[in-house]
Formats: sequence, C-alpha cells, structure tokens
Amino acid sequence: MRNDSPSPAKEGIIARIFCEGTLTFKEFMEAALYHPELGYYTTGPRPGRQGDFFTNVSIGSVFGDLLADYVHALWKLNDPHEPFTILEEGGNTGALAGDLLLRLYAKFPALCKQFRFLASERMAHAMTDPRLEPFADVWEQIDDPFAIAPDTVDVAYSNELLDAFPVHRVVWEGPEVGWRECTVRLRTNGQSLTWDSQPITHPLLNSRLDRIDTAGFQPGHLTEVNLDLGPWLQRHFRTLKPGGTLLIFDYGITGNAYHTPSRPEGTLRAYHQHQLSRDLLAHPGQQDLTAHVDFAELERDATAKGFELVRLVDQSRFLTECARDALLEMERSLDGKAPDAAQEKWFRQFRQLISMGPTFKVLELRKPKPNA
Ligand SMILES: C[S@@+](CC[C@H](N)C(=O)[O-])C[C@H]1O[C@@H](n2cnc3c(N)ncnc32)[C@H](O)[C@@H]1O
Repeated sequence: MRNDSPSPAKEGIIARIFCEGTLTFKEFMEAALYHPELGYYTTGPRPGRQGDFFTNVSIGSVFGDLLADYVHALWKLNDPHEPFTILEEGGNTGALAGDLLLRLYAKFPALCKQFRFLASERMAHAMTDPRLEPFADVWEQIDDPFAIAPDTVDVAYSNELLDAFPVHRVVWEGPEVGWRECTVRLRTNGQSLTWDSQPITHPLLNSRLDRIDTAGFQPGHLTEVNLDLGPWLQRHFRTLKPGGTLLIFDYGITGNAYHTPSRPEGTLRAYHQHQLSRDLLAHPGQQDLTAHVDFAELERDATAKGFELVRLVDQSRFLTECARDALLEMERSLDGKAPDAAQEKWFRQFRQLISMGPTFKVLELRKPKPNA
C-alpha cells in the first residue's frame, strides 16, 4: 500500500499536522485508530471476513461458550448470595458479549439470577450485534470505566484489546545519542507523511527505556513502549473485588524477549483486508495498526501493583482446559456415532482457536483477598 493516496482520515490527520507541526507516533496512532470521525475503529467494526483480521470472536461462538464455562467455574467459588459482576473491555460489535450471555442463560440460569454485565468499548456507537438484543435489560455500556465503584467486579476480561492501545515508537541511535522518539510529519510536498524523530521528553518513557539492555543493538533499532498499560492495570486492581480475576487474551511476547537485537524493527504492524503491511503511515484511518503485547513487562507491572499471577499460558492450553468438560460430554453423547453438523461445527471452531499459534497468550491475574 502506498502512502501518497488520499483518504478522508489522512486528510484530517494531515490538517492536524499542519496545525500542530509534528505528531509523535503515539499521537498519530491515536488519531488513525480513534479519531472521533475518521478513525479506523470509529468508521466501522473491523474484525471478521469482511474486515481486516480475524480474532477468536470472529471465528464463531465457541470462544464465548468456553469463556462462559470459565466464568461459571469462577462463580461457583463465589458466595452464592453475593451479586456477581462481569466486565468486558474492547468488545467492538458486542459479538463476544452476545455469545457469552447466550451460553450463560442457556446453561447456568442460577448464575444469571444474580449478575450484572458491564461493557466498556471505546467506540460509543459499537456493541450493536443482534445477539445482544435479547439481553438489552441485562447489560450496561459503561462510558467511563474509571467511574466503576471500587471492589465491585468479579471478573474482567478482554480479547485483543491491549494490542490496539496507541504506543510510543522509539529508535536507538547508538550509545552517543541513545533513544529518540519517532515522530510523523508532512513531506515538503504537503501531501504525504514521513518519519522523523525528536528527543524524548516523557519522564516515564525515559525510565522505561533506561531498563532496556541495548547490548547488540545497531543504530536505527526500532521498538515500541506501551505506557497506558500501567494505569489500565491500576484501574482493574481498584475495581476488582478481593479474589476477583482479570483475564487478558492477546498476542505478544513473553520472557524478556521483546527488546532484543533480533527484532530490529519492533512489532508494530499494519493490516488491511487480511494483508500485512509494514507501511504504518499509509492510509491512516483505513488500516489497522497494532503492536504485540510485552507480557513480561505486563506481568512485572501487575505483580508490582499487587496482583497475583495465576497463569500466563498459550491460548491453546487455556482453551483446551476450559473445554475439558464440554469435550467429555460430547464424547459420552456420541458413544461411537459420527458427530452431527452442529458438533462438527463446534470441533472446527475449537480446532481453529487452538491452532492460532504460540504467540496467542492468556494472562490470568487475581486481586488477592486480604490476609490470603
Ligand atoms: C482489535 S479490536 C478487538 C475486538 C474484539 N474484542 C474481538 O476480539 O473481536 C479492539 C477493540 O478495542 C476497542 N478499544 C480500544 N481501546 C479501548 C479502551 N481503552 N477501552 C475500551 N475499548 C477500547 C476498540 O475500539 C476495538 O473495538
């Protein structure tokens, strides 16, 4: 994809660059994805066959079924007289919320007698999936998740949310110069965008970069830093009940391997119609921009904030464990017979979910109970 053809979002962003001079890449990514009129997520739901990428949710309803079984297992550990609150973040169209609610109502009516379902989606107009319609009186869209009362949420989850947070892009210019922040500016033709860099002024960004071992890096080494994860974790820590769970599904890198000489271009990518593009500045507002999650940093930050690490595992392992009872039940009901069309479909989706590859991870965190 070339970066000199027009798009409405590009014109908006170019107008902004004219007014403000240069944008940091983080500001550019923020505008390209979430500009109130022209942003990528503002102008339409994007996951799925018609969109630009598949997620667990766009594969079908099995992901929601398994998540419902997992939520039910947590609920069983709860005091049965206590209300139970579920919070989904970054639900886009609401398809996962619809799948989850359908399964909870069909299989676990006792849980549904005493629960609240909250959804926080940055795009206010999203969450329009028809599967949510029968549950209109049950779920509530939260405009400001920071306003959720402390100690009230039992389980909060997100799927492919953190990879969509705008990140700082930085470049290592060698030991003399150190790190600089990547910026985006207009070329002299006033039509197209190009890269530049500036000194780093953000104290938190500086302190994060100070912790990166740059041994073996060549000048020009690019990477990215997500500074929004700390406040996000802090908020969840405040709003979860003691004993409550935060469950994060996303693709990313574990074990301090995020910033290494073997990854000289970082993990930022653009996607358009299921094609990968490395031209991050092309078609702002019309292509997805995404960065892998640094799970080692996320885990470190979460435990520093007081969370207990329950597990950080491949998605395939997590979902296989969630599916254990459903698989055994299906085996019993088949009793040597061939699966019917619905069972075939279930298996097909399940196989797809567990073959997404080892980059797809699940981080399960718990807010400890006092004196636990
Ligand atoms: C990659 S999509 C994933 C959508 C869906 N969870 C799925 O798996 O198909 C990311 C979604 O997160 C939303 N989002 C981004 N930042 C958010 C935030 N801070 N709070 C709530 N939603 C957010 C975006 O608007 C978008 O709908």
